[in-house]
This record gives sequence, structure tokens and C-alpha cells, in this order.
Amino acid sequence: MKILVTGGAGFIGSAVIRHIIAATKDHVINLDKLTYAGNLESLDAVSADARYVFEQVDICDRVELDRVFQTHQPDAVMHLAAESHVDRSIDGPGEFIQTNLVGTYTLLEAARVYWSQLDVERKSAFRFHHISTDEVYGDLGEGSEHLFTEQTPYDPSSPYSASKAGSDHLVRAWQRTYGLPTVVTNCSNNYGPYHFPEKLIPLVILNALEGKELPVYGQGTQIRDWLFVEDHARALYTVLTQGQPGETYNIGGHNEKKNIDVVLTICQLLDELHPMSPVVPHASLIKYVQDRPGHDVRYAIDAAKIKKDLGWVPQETFESGIRKTVQWYLDNLAWCKRVQDGSYRRERLGLA
Ligand SMILES: NC(=O)c1ccc[n+]([C@@H]2O[C@H](COP(=O)([O-])OP(=O)(O)OC[C@H]3O[C@@H](n4cnc5c(N)ncnc54)[C@H](O)[C@@H]3O)[C@@H](O)[C@H]2O)c1
Repeated sequence: MKILVTGGAGFIGSAVIRHIIAATKDHVINLDKLTYAGNLESLDAVSADARYVFEQVDICDRVELDRVFQTHQPDAVMHLAAESHVDRSIDGPGEFIQTNLVGTYTLLEAARVYWSQLDVERKSAFRFHHISTDEVYGDLGEGSEHLFTEQTPYDPSSPYSASKAGSDHLVRAWQRTYGLPTVVTNCSNNYGPYHFPEKLIPLVILNALEGKELPVYGQGTQIRDWLFVEDHARALYTVLTQGQPGETYNIGGHNEKKNIDVVLTICQLLDELHPMSPVVPHASLIKYVQDRPGHDVRYAIDAAKIKKDLGWVPQETFESGIRKTVQWYLDNLAWCKRVQDGSYRRERLGLA
């Protein structure tokens, strides 16, 4: 297969591409605008492979999308390109509407026109896989026993989750109206290597190593269901190759944790693995800060369908995955430094 991956220079997209190149014989076209969140250095392990090619393209640019489809003739699209950080969506929702809604619409139209011209066999085998989030389902609230299933009604809280919810609806409408063979996945919070340091887990690790405060929203009681990013990459490839067109699959790690417990676990691991930090114990750096507006209390995924229908289960527990993650950051401080000081972008823009 030739797979067009959008957002392949991001956190999850790069894990998907590393997985495809390492574990399959498929070819990958990585289509990415390279916003602040896109980092080609996350693809150093595969970028020299003959089965990998990069196209710097904005998913809102229809002319360029048509060129990419015609040039590379993909058999499938895995659509991960998005603005993805909730705090940024609160400060400036415009980019989220543009990329997540207008961009997804533009990509769907380019894919539909390309797909409609394929021969019968390639047309029925084609897949448009839209990668989304459990945040579209809204807030389960504290003390509830419920989990998000594929039938849970949408009730997004932030500009980010609302824009993702809208993009999910567009994809399903393109299946129903035009017959484009789509699959949608909604996944819980990911963590693991190459995660941009504005997100909770890498932020805590890197601040702790420098003896800086560890900001925790509110009392840190928000509950998230954590999934190791490489487990997500395996799940996505499974859905792409075995999922039924028109279906939705929830993906989760069965790892519900309060944010404060995640932070404390990281601190304990750093106490063990990096006792020479400037401030030890690392937990003494925790600082409770004003909560995010509209902050959802609890997300939790029921991943029974993907297990039953496609046989996917995560390979990592939270304990094994978070240990690997902390160790990866300790072993890859050069990657982190180039993200933190902006050199990964400056060199790309010719400003170094
Ligand atoms: N991170 C999570 O925990 C999580 C969980 C569930 C679902 N998701 C979804 O998975 C996808 C990937 O998430 P991520 O954490 O890897 O995000 P990310 O922010 O790390 O990466 C996004 C990538 O998309 C690219 N991009 C942004 N706008 C673009 C545009 N207009 N055209 C082309 N490329 C563009 C960026 O350059 C970047 O490489 C997103 O759709 C997100 O909603 C993320």
C-alpha cells in the first residue's frame, strides 16, 4: 500500500510513520505543513528509507492536495494533521477552525475527487481514516462509572474538541453522501517519545530536570485515560487495514489516572533515574495553578469494540509506558533542547 499520512511530523503521526516503515512493507507519503508542532527530526530513523517521502503542504491548499494525490496515487489516507493543543485553542480558536474544519473539508474533497476516478478494485479498497479524540464526547464528570462508547453523543467543551467534533461529522457525511470509504477513530490521551514539551507529561519531565516549577491545573483531580503512543500507532494501522468502512472505533489504554498522580509518578521515576537533578525530591516542585476555563473532569474510553472486532489490545501498562517515556526523555535531551530553544524551526526556516 501507499499511505498518505497527514500531520506525519507531529507526535502521533511520526509514531505512525515509524511503525509503518519498521513493521510493514508499505510506502508512506508524509504531508505536513510544519507548524510549530511539526518536527522532521522525529522522523530521522526513517527519512532515508526509499519507502518514505515528505511533502510540505497545508491541508487547506486544494491545488497542492490535488497535485499530491495525482503524483503519488495513494491507496489510503490517514488524516492526523490538526491543531491539537487545548490551551492554544482557548487563546486563539481561529487556527483550529481553519485547519481542523476547513482543512478536513478540503482534504475530503480532494480525496473524493481522486477516489471517484480510481478503477473499481482500487476504489473499493481505498480508505480515508480520520484520527480523532475522545474529547468530542465531553465530560464524564467525577464519580461517574460511565465510559465513552462509540454511541456516546457528542458534547465537546473546548474550541479544540468542538472543531474535532465538526471534522468527525464531515467525514461521516462524506461516507454517507458520497460513499467515500471512511473509518473514524476516537482515542484517549497519548503519551510517549517525541511529545512536544507544551503537553503535561513532557513538560513535567523537562521542568523537573531543570529544577523549575511543575504547574498542575486546579487540584490536579482531572482524570484522563492514558495510552502509550506506540500502542496507538499499532491500533491505527489495525483499523486502517482491517476496520470496516463507515465504522467508528474507540481506542483507549484502560489507564484512568488523575493528573496529580501522573505528575507524582513522573517525580518518583526521576528521583530513581536522575537523582542528580538540581531539586530533589522532584515532587517538591509541584505548584497548583488556576484551572483552565471549561476544563473537563474525566474522560475514559470503552475500547471493547476494537478488541472484539479487530483483536487490538494495548501492549503497555501505564507503569511500563511511563517508565519508557521518562527514560526516553533522559536519553534524548538533545532532541528536547532543539525543540525548547526553537532551533528545530529556525534551521528549517533558514534563520539559523
Ligand atoms: N495527542 C493526543 O493525546 C491525541 C489523542 C487523540 C487524538 N489525537 C488526534 O491525533 C492527531 C495528531 O495529534 P498529535 O498529538 O500528533 O498532534 P501534533 O500537534 O503533535 O501534530 C500535528 C501535526 O499536524 C501538522 N499540521 C497542523 N496544521 C496543518 C495543516 N494545516 N496542514 C498540514 N499539516 C498541519 C503539524 O505541523 C504537526 O506536524 C490530531 O488530529 C489529534 O486531534 C491526539
